[in-house]
Amino acid sequence: MCDYMELALKRQSCRHFSDQKVEREKLARCVEAARLTPSACNSQPWSFVVVESPGKVAEVAKATMHMGINEYVAQAKAFFVVVEEYAELMPKIACLIDGQYFARGDLGAATLSLCLEAQSQGLGTCILGLFDRPRLRELLDIPRDKGVFLVVAVGYPATDATRPKSRRPVETMVRYV
Ligand SMILES: Cc1cc2nc3c(=O)[nH]c(=O)nc-3n(C[C@H](O)[C@H](O)[C@H](O)COP(=O)(O)O)c2cc1C
Repeated sequence: MCDYMELALKRQSCRHFSDQKVEREKLARCVEAARLTPSACNSQPWSFVVVESPGKVAEVAKATMHMGINEYVAQAKAFFVVVEEYAELMPKIACLIDGQYFARGDLGAATLSLCLEAQSQGLGTCILGLFDRPRLRELLDIPRDKGVFLVVAVGYPATDATRPKSRRPVETMVRYV
């Protein structure tokens, strides 16, 4: 049996990667996990750019070391760029009833699927929300009618140590009625 809680406790933002290259099959499995993610009206408002060639990896790393932050991404061996596919939402416009825009939630869920599958294969990931979006769009030929949502840095973790989770106490975030 696969223990989800074990995986959830082990997954953590990895900011120290080893020099080991990440196999394409492992990256592809992460994308497959994301593809299986549920979405509102099954709209699947996502696509993924897998950055694995060393030249592109270096360029993407540079674009994510934005405003002096995320310097550690220089050690990442690959990146996933999670793209928001607005076009996929148009036929599913009924999902916008009641003023709800579910796509961002769907994209977040797909991003976590990627990260958990990476963890299950012994890879480390860090989700990046702050980066030079115009530069990344240019670098990866992402057209204007798509959104550059998040970047996920990937590699083998330099250490197996798991940090304790820093989270709000459960009683501040749940009510049973
Ligand atoms: C949408 C999103 C954006 C994030 N952006 C960054 C980022 O730009 N740089 C970074 O180092 N971590 C980033 N993180 C990682 C969070 O800081 C991290 O997930 C959080 O502190 C919880 O720690 P854990 O992932 O180790 O459990 C981001 C996480 C999410 C979900």
